[in-house]
Amino acid sequence: MKLKSVGIIGTGSALPERIMTNYDLEKIVETSHEWILSRTGIEERRIADEKTTTSDLAYEASLKAMEMAGTSPEELDLIIVATITPDMVFPATACILQDRLGARNAAAFDLEAACSGFLYGVTTAQQFIATGHYKKVLVIGGEIMSKIVDFTDRSTCVLFGDGAGAVVMGEVEEGFGILSTDLGSKGEGGKYLYQPAGGSLEPASEESVRNRRHFIKMGGGEVFKFAVRIMGESSARVIEKAGLELEDVDYLVPHQANTRIIEAAAKRIKLPMSRVKVNLNRYGNMSAASIPVALDEAVRAGEIKKGDHVVLVGFGGGLTWGAALIKW
Ligand code: UT7
Repeated sequence: MKLKSVGIIGTGSALPERIMTNYDLEKIVETSHEWILSRTGIEERRIADEKTTTSDLAYEASLKAMEMAGTSPEELDLIIVATITPDMVFPATACILQDRLGARNAAAFDLEAACSGFLYGVTTAQQFIATGHYKKVLVIGGEIMSKIVDFTDRSTCVLFGDGAGAVVMGEVEEGFGILSTDLGSKGEGGKYLYQPAGGSLEPASEESVRNRRHFIKMGGGEVFKFAVRIMGESSARVIEKAGLELEDVDYLVPHQANTRIIEAAAKRIKLPMSRVKVNLNRYGNMSAASIPVALDEAVRAGEIKKGDHVVLVGFGGGLTWGAALIKW
């Protein structure tokens, strides 16, 4: 069977209006603008209001992506929402979104691979379209990280922000679209980035709430070391798998966790920072939403043009990683 070429045919993003600066955080925890900026590159992040849910941001981002793709809700065959902050444990946020969009012909499920979730979603969608099983798939990375961040823990609360990014995927001209992908996991590193309570291991209880077990816990140094290595390695792997050379790459859209991690990835594939998308100064780390929001900004700003070889790469809890090389 000849596989179809699969690409991203529309992008969209949504961000809450409220801005929380590093100076605002100085009033909440023992930190400083200088520390946050020099260690991470983050200056401010968006924080959703109490009532806003992940599906609200996903809905807004999806409408924009579908408009760009010229795709109606009825045409969607599948909706995948990558998130670690679903509206609720179940039903899936993807089902909530399907109802809201009126995508009555779409199957829908959530996918959890933390910050790598969007790339896991894109790779999953690619399989369905390449085989001809589905024609149009909506993939979203959406998070309200502020609801699982402990605003008494300075080692994590300064890092994260809220947002959503969406893409519509479909068949593209032969030779274009996704040329290669790379997904992986390293489960033994799960202990470095996790939310202990709320699952079957430690269901919600008065004690779990009292001990702040429903918030993110992170061994930042360990995650940092893993990220620096894997972002470069995985990027190099998709370039090689696609049969390309480092100099063929035009643009990099990395997960937005830390400028130092992004710089290390760019250096590994010998790409100048002028060809790397960085927006974490404005949004912080939005987990699964970081890559699709950055991609949408780059596409709408004309930083990515038809024919460009674009590498998307991310890492996150699990531990997990993912990369894709796309001929735009
Ligand atoms: O999407 C995946 C999510 N996770 C990540 O991407 C995390 C990856 N890791 C990182 O980005 C970095 O490890 C951090 C930014 C989290 C930390 O940077 P670092 O250079 O590794 O700092 P550190 O953890 O070694 O901490 C240095 C010092 C410590 O003080 P002592 O022990 O040296 O006295 C911390 O207590 O900085 C202190 N510190 C802070 N100080 C001011 C930690 N957080 C803060 C803070 N403000 N917010």
